[in-house]
Amino acid sequence: MKKQVIFITGTSSGLGKAIAELCYENGHIVYGSSRNPPSENPYVKELKVDVTDQQSVQNAVNYILEKEGRIDVVINNAGLGIIGPIEYLDVADVNRVWHTNVNGLLHVLQAVLPSMRHHNAGKIISISSIASVIALPFRGVYCASKAAGDKIIQSLRMELSQTNISCCSIQAGDIRTSINENRLKVKDLEDPFYADIVKRTNQHIDDEVNKGMSARAVALEIYRLLSHEKLPITYVVGKPLQKLSLWIKRIVSEGVFEKIIASYSK
Ligand SMILES: NC(=O)c1ccc[n+]([C@@H]2O[C@H](COP(=O)([O-])OP(=O)(O)OC[C@H]3O[C@@H](n4cnc5c(N)ncnc54)[C@H](OP(=O)(O)O)[C@@H]3O)[C@@H](O)[C@H]2O)c1
Repeated sequence: MKKQVIFITGTSSGLGKAIAELCYENGHIVYGSSRNPPSENPYVKELKVDVTDQQSVQNAVNYILEKEGRIDVVINNAGLGIIGPIEYLDVADVNRVWHTNVNGLLHVLQAVLPSMRHHNAGKIISISSIASVIALPFRGVYCASKAAGDKIIQSLRMELSQTNISCCSIQAGDIRTSINENRLKVKDLEDPFYADIVKRTNQHIDDEVNKGMSARAVALEIYRLLSHEKLPITYVVGKPLQKLSLWIKRIVSEGVFEKIIASYSK
């Protein structure tokens, strides 16, 4: 693959950091971004960006375009998790997740598209989740935010079908990152109807993430995709059982599938 100018959001930790390092190792010009960029990063030019703030994203994109003249690849990776019963979710927390996972994606797309259309070239990758396809108890808002991102990417693909700009959602399974520590939670949940099951679900998610794929392994799959001339609509990366769950969802009834998922949350 010839040298690409790559802009990635959420590179201060986890998957974004791993993708940025891999792209740098392969000789590309990499601009990373986050709210708390490391003061020194040998791999990546780090920019301070809050994806919930449209102007902040626009400023970063303007800066890269001024320096490099183009952005070949954008990877929308910055994201935030949330867990809790729908009945008790704090609306301010829900807004934070939505503004990060959905509006953040829109801000990135609106900032890069004029230049990509001008060059009639570009690749857009949005980091989604298997949870965008499978609703999970106590994670409804996270699932919905990732599903919204997938739909935005699918619509955009059709809007840009006359161009050489290609877009893809990565539906990832569990990845060992700091997502557990950063996930928003309902505070002081005492209602006995929910308290124990939410505690167990929290622990279960933490365990699954800790057993998940390494960020490096996921980054490698995403990096390989970049060499494809046209990106697929979605690309699933995850452990075999998580990939299998998507196949099962296609072949069994909604009711049966719901029972299978619910049985993992008791
Ligand atoms: N880990 C998993 O199991 C898993 C599974 C499926 C999908 N994903 C998705 O993978 C992506 C990366 O998550 P991760 O697992 O690597 O989690 P992570 O380690 O918590 O990384 C999240 C990154 O997003 C950045 N970020 C969060 N809010 C931001 C904002 N408002 N503006 C700019 N940057 C922001 C964080 O940096 P700052 O805090 O410094 O801003 C951090 O660099 C997310 O979209 C997540 O939903 C993760």
